[in-house]
This record gives sequence, C-alpha cells and structure tokens, in this order.
Amino acid sequence: MLKMDWTSLYALFICVSYVSSTKLHEAARVKVTHAGISRFSFENSDNNLVKLVSTSGNNIIWVGGSTVLYSIRPTQSFKPHQVNLSLCEDKGKDSHNSLCLRISLLREGVDGNLFICRSHDGNTECCDLGSDYSPIKCFTSEHYEPDINEPSLLVNNMLYFIKPEKGLYRINKNDKNDNIWPQPSQTEQTYLKLIAGKDEDKVYSFFAEKYKSKDGEKWIARVSQSCMNDKGGNKNLLQSSWTSTIYNRLFCGKEYEFTQMIDVATIETDNDIKIYALFKNYWNMSAVCVYSLTEISRIFNSSEFNATNVPPTHRPGTCVPDSTRLSTEVLGFMKDRPEMKDWVKPENGPLLFRHHHYTHIQVDRVRDHTVLLLSLESGGVHKVREDPVFVIAEYLPFPRRTHITSMLLDASEKRLYVSSSNEVVQIDLQRCDDYGDDCNQCTLSRDPHCIWNGLQCTSTATSQVQDIISCEKPQASPSKTENRLKTPELLHVPPSSKHFLLCPVTSLHATYHWIHDETPEDCVQSELGCFYLIYSMNTSYEGDYRCVSSEEGYNRIVSQYQLSMSRSEAIRLSPALLLLLTASHVTLLLILTF
Ligand SMILES: *[C@@H]1O[C@H](CO)[C@@H](O)[C@H](O)[C@H]1NC(C)=O
Ligand SMILES: *[C@@H]1O[C@H](CO)[C@@H](O)[C@H](O)[C@H]1NC(C)=O
Ligand SMILES: *[C@@H]1O[C@H](CO)[C@@H](O)[C@H](O)[C@H]1NC(C)=O
Ligand SMILES: *[C@@H]1O[C@H](CO)[C@@H](O)[C@H](O)[C@H]1NC(C)=O
Ligand SMILES: *[C@@H]1O[C@H](CO)[C@@H](O)[C@H](O)[C@H]1NC(C)=O
Repeated sequence: MLKMDWTSLYALFICVSYVSSTKLHEAARVKVTHAGISRFSFENSDNNLVKLVSTSGNNIIWVGGSTVLYSIRPTQSFKPHQVNLSLCEDKGKDSHNSLCLRISLLREGVDGNLFICRSHDGNTECCDLGSDYSPIKCFTSEHYEPDINEPSLLVNNMLYFIKPEKGLYRINKNDKNDNIWPQPSQTEQTYLKLIAGKDEDKVYSFFAEKYKSKDGEKWIARVSQSCMNDKGGNKNLLQSSWTSTIYNRLFCGKEYEFTQMIDVATIETDNDIKIYALFKNYWNMSAVCVYSLTEISRIFNSSEFNATNVPPTHRPGTCVPDSTRLSTEVLGFMKDRPEMKDWVKPENGPLLFRHHHYTHIQVDRVRDHTVLLLSLESGGVHKVREDPVFVIAEYLPFPRRTHITSMLLDASEKRLYVSSSNEVVQIDLQRCDDYGDDCNQCTLSRDPHCIWNGLQCTSTATSQVQDIISCEKPQASPSKTENRLKTPELLHVPPSSKHFLLCPVTSLHATYHWIHDETPEDCVQSELGCFYLIYSMNTSYEGDYRCVSSEEGYNRIVSQYQLSMSRSEAIRLSPALLLLLTASHVTLLLILTF
C-alpha cells in the first residue's frame, strides 16, 4: 500500500497556475479535450495525409496525400472511403515494373466537384471527379507537374499552380499553346495562397521570400499581381512568361516587424476580400495582420515604382489584350521584377500572440465578428475572437503532441477539420451549452457562435434571437444565485478519515474558492477542478460548503455541500470519491491507494 499524505497529493496534480494579467488575453478561457470532437478512423496508419479539401457540390470532405485519397461524408459515417484512383498500373507480376502516378493537385473544381491532377515524370492529367468517383472532363499537359502541397487556383478554363522553387504557372485546359511560366528566381519563395481579384481579371499570389545575407536568413512577405489574360512576351523577350506581374511587400509590425509569413486565409465581405496573414518571428511569437484586397489593388494601380527607368507610355502591370505586342522597353522593365514604392499596410493588426507558436490559420465570420482558428505547433487549436483579441477556447483534438498538416473550415456547418499525417478530426464550433446554463456564462464565453436566447446558451445558427440579450447585472449579492441553486448535497464523513470536495472548473479565466460557512477557504487547483481537502475529519469541518467562481465581477455558486461527521467509523467511499473513480485519469488510481 502506498503511503501518502496530502502534501504529496498536491504534487501529483498538474497545477493550473493563475494566469498572470499580461498573458490573460492569450490564455484560452476554456480547454476542450472531448466535447464536440470526433475522430475519423483510417484503416492504414501510414497515409501521409497533407491536404483537406471540401467540395460544395456534394458536401464531401476530401483528404489526400500524394499516394492516397479518401472521401468523408461527415453526416453519414465516421469511416472514410478510400477512392480507387488506380494510381499504380501493374505491368506484369513484378511490382518493380509497376508505373505509379502521384496525386499532384487537389482542390474544389469550378462546378463544385473535386478537381484532381495525377502526374508521372513531368506529365500530368487533370480531371473532375464525378459523382461515382470516376474521372471526367480530363485534360493532359506535358512538361507541367504541380505539387499537392502548393496552392492553386482554377478560373474558367485556366489552372494556376505553383512549382516549388519556380513560381506561378498557368495552363489553359483547352489550348496547349497558351501556357505561362515564371522567370527563374534568385530567391527562395514559399507560396501560401492564390486568389482571383473581384473582377476575375487578375490573380494575386501571397508568398514568403527568403534572402540569404551576411547576417543570416531574411524573410519578406510579398504579394504579386498578374493579369489573367497575359499571353507572354515576344520571341526575344519573356516569351510564354509573365509580362504583367508586379510585386509589393506586406508590412506587419508595430514595435518590431514580423517578416516571416507562414499561412494565409481569406474571407469575402460585401465588396472586398480580406486577407488574414499569419506571421511568426525568430522567437516563434505569432502575429496576424489583416489586409484588404481593394487596398492592395489600389496600391498596385497608383503607387510609384521603386525604379528609375519606368516606361513613360505604358504603366507596368496594366492588363492589355495582347501582351506579345508590348514594347521591348516595357518587357525589359517587367523582366526586372518591378516593385512598388508604397508597401501594403494592414487594415487591422498586428494581432500579437507573444506566447503561442501558431502554424495554420482559418477564418470564420459570424454576426459581424471574425473568429480565427489557429493551430498550435503542439497539435492544439485556438479559437480566437478578432476584435478585441480573446482566446475563446483551446481544443486538444489529438491525445498526444501532433504535427498538424492541414486545417479546413466548413463555414456553412461551422465545423473545423484538422489533419495530422494519419488522422482527421472534426471539431464542432457550436457547442454552446458547454459554456454553462446561464446568461452570464454564455456572455463571458465571448463566443460569436453562441448567444443567450433567454433560456439557454445556443448557437447563433439555430437561434432566432437577433440582438444580444443583455444579462442581468453581474451578481453583486451572491444570495440571489444561492436561491436558484438546488439544495446542497448531504455528505457524511467518518471521524478521522480523509476527504475532499471537488468543484469543476470550466473557465480558466475565473478564480475559484471555497466558502465554509462564511469563511473563505483556498482551493487546490488541478486539471479536474478545484479541491477542498480535509486531512482528518472532525466536527470543526462540519457545515455548509460552497464553491464560488468569480470572473469579471460576476460570482456564481458552482457547487454546494452540507458536510457532517458520521458516527460510524466504517470506511466507505464518499460520493466525491466515486465521482473521481469514474473519471479516467491515471493520477486518480494513486489517490485511491493511500
Ligand atoms: C480500381 O479500379 C480499377 C479500374 O478502374 C479496377 O481494375 C480495380 O480492380 C479497382 N481496384 C479495386 C481495389 O477496387
Ligand atoms: C521555433 O520552433 C521550431 C519548431 O518547433 C524550433 O525548431 C525552434 O527551435 C524554435 N525557435 C526558437 C527560437 O524557440
Ligand atoms: C487605376 O487608376 C486609373 C487612373 O489612374 C483609373 O482610371 C482606374 O479606374 C484604376 N483602376 C482600379 C482598378 O482602381
Ligand atoms: C527600393 O529598392 C532599393 C534597391 O533595391 C531597396 O534598397 C529599397 O529598400 C527599395 N525600397 C522599397 C520601398 O521597397
Ligand atoms: C479539527 O482538525 C483541525 C486540523 O487538524 C484542527 O485545527 C482543529 O482544532 C480540529 N477541531 C476539533 C474540534 O478537534
């Protein structure tokens, strides 16, 4: 039998320390490990899943890697369906002779189906995937091979894709002679997002550019603009290369500049597209800067160029019907990668997260509020309100430290899909009743997905309530709450025995304490909640116990007990102990052995 006293028990608990005020807005208010998190199970554990795609035409979530593709119908089954793409074509029995294709591009197609490219040895076939998973509307392209990890864009009959270390390519589904490729680059570029401008005449590329200098590596965040109807230059200069691409720099900083852009998400507003760019710095601090596409295109249209030899007759970057007829002077200027003098400044931000290392970003818009979903380097996900910055929740979808490979928001269903190399989990973003069952708790969650409808904390999607119902004033007198609480639980504890009371902790921003009769008592913080410990029961421990939480001036009785000493000396498990027995936590077994 393990001999143990309460002091060593303290050490067993993983103590949740009080959050210091400077870190408060960065510490998640609630932690979610199970509620609303569903796991999809794959037969093979070695899938190398890197990409999540949703298709609006059939409400399917696709998850793939270069050798495998699964479809998931979240409303029907938690078992992903492996799509038979016949990637390997057996040539006889000897498997060494088999020719295998690689999945080189996955995205939503123009008609809401999945658009997929398969490549081998530099040649590529791209198709839509029909309703029975059969490839339709295929076209082939020689000497062009996309990469599944890179961003892409499909507008009408043009496919835009990135080749690592090369840049932006465009191929025309219908015309093999209408392909455009980039000029060789002196720098290392990581492309993060391609988007079409509002008028679908320009394509914008967001990328991080790495320069090697004496002082080490230097990153610059960039946006470039190219005309979709670019036909390339003439046979002397820039033939089949971009003649319209102009470049700018995305600035993100305040006290110090964030320069390494690592992911980009966009949302459409009434007449603009907002670009949410996630940055990190050398110390792995994170920042998000928000840019407007209207502003980006305004600067491209109006800023001076950072060059002296600007052609006087044609503004570089302006779209023309036939770029092959541009003058040698203009083409020569375009070849040198023209850059604007005015940088793009963020409309909002930097939203600073000094204590978190984020890796991916997705953005949702609810009731005029923006919610950011940011994956953590450790495998968690933060749900963050943009304005003012507030970390609503930390989801821990994986049981251990995991590298997240892709994240996808299904904005219509308010579900977030997160993949690791061999797992996919779904997070329900509308678990409003988990915040608690009163108006103040619902409001304190600050979750734009949730609203108090007068009866319960419910999702904004299902609620008819238009305006936020303001709760009654935060409780000044706890007696009012007290009346609403059901009668306290009666507990009989044998003399001289050890006992404890547990108060479940929901908000990590709240402080919890026990009140014994009218005397405040400290609590022992743990993962499970806030404990009140009794070393050896005697009559002075008898009486009324209330656990009260305080958050932003709002006090609430979380649990309440009436303790009395039993006459019997018999040891029996008290209800609080039984409660702990049911929870599956290793430390609990140790508690029971003393
Ligand atoms: C996959 O499809 C090909 C033809 O499309 C077929 O020959 C093959 O048997 C299928 N494989 C499986 C495992 O169903
Ligand atoms: C930043 O994070 C990366 C990846 O986890 C790690 O290798 C690196 O050491 C970190 N840098 C600093 C300065 O902590
Ligand atoms: C670009 O600027 C020109 C004049 O400088 C103006 O006529 C044109 O409408 C502008 N285009 C856009 C897309 O703002
Ligand atoms: C303009 O170009 C010069 C020389 O390449 C560079 O040092 C400077 O930083 C650039 N200015 C802007 C505003 O990009
Ligand atoms: C009960 O136990 C506590 C702590 O051991 C002690 O301080 C207190 O005096 C005891 N009360 C009685 C009535 O024995």
